[in-house]
Amino acid sequence: MLEKSDHTPYRVVEASYVVSSPNLRSCPDPIYPEIAIAGRSNVGKSSLINLLCNQKNLAKTSRTPGKTQMINYFHLRIEPGSIHLHLVDLPGYGYTKTGKTVQEQWGKTMGEFLERRKPLIGILQLVDSRHEPQTLDLQMREWITHSNRAAVTILTKTDKLKKNAIQKSRAQTIRALGLSKEESCILTSVLKRQGIREVTNAIVSLLQSTQNTP
Ligand code: GTP
Ligand code: MG
Repeated sequence: MLEKSDHTPYRVVEASYVVSSPNLRSCPDPIYPEIAIAGRSNVGKSSLINLLCNQKNLAKTSRTPGKTQMINYFHLRIEPGSIHLHLVDLPGYGYTKTGKTVQEQWGKTMGEFLERRKPLIGILQLVDSRHEPQTLDLQMREWITHSNRAAVTILTKTDKLKKNAIQKSRAQTIRALGLSKEESCILTSVLKRQGIREVTNAIVSLLQSTQNTP
């Protein structure tokens, strides 16, 4: 059973900004297990962090894609169980205005981070519920699989869709990313405050699954 009791759901009780690193080399000391949030620019990565942590501006958000350019670290404590982790807000992919050199640099930095960052135990991959997973989403998935990382898929901005369209989008995403029955696809909306509990539980599950690995 995931939750300690039906009356005490997991929730983030403490959250603070730690540091922003431009590359793998300057990431902080590996004192906590890490979970990173990946997805296209503007998909809602920073907004989801604020939702989970119940803070308005912990992670900087913007209407304009390309806001998050660094690897941003946040320290979270989840209760019950006093669970500590670093949640990592990654720069988004697919933002074309930054130019080719910046994109190449992004690819190099992300590739290194995903393949070599030792405390990284899982990725939350965010996909915009309004669109089918795009080429870059599929590539990110391949990258995650290739680097042997556990992943959880999260559909964002479901408030923009009607109920039927949300279910259609979920089915499309499951098919396109080749998710198995055991792999969840969590629905979220920052506006409706939807998915907080599911995402927090998914984070705890990722942390628990690595603890159980010999
Ligand atoms: P980059 O840092 O550029 O990679 O973007 P990001 O993925 O961090 O996106 P961010 O959280 O900055 O959100 C982008 C825009 O989408 C902002 O205008 C948010 O207010 C909006 N947004 C995020 N989540 C939701 C949601 O659930 N519903 C709606 N309607 N808007 C959302
Ligand atoms: Mg961001």
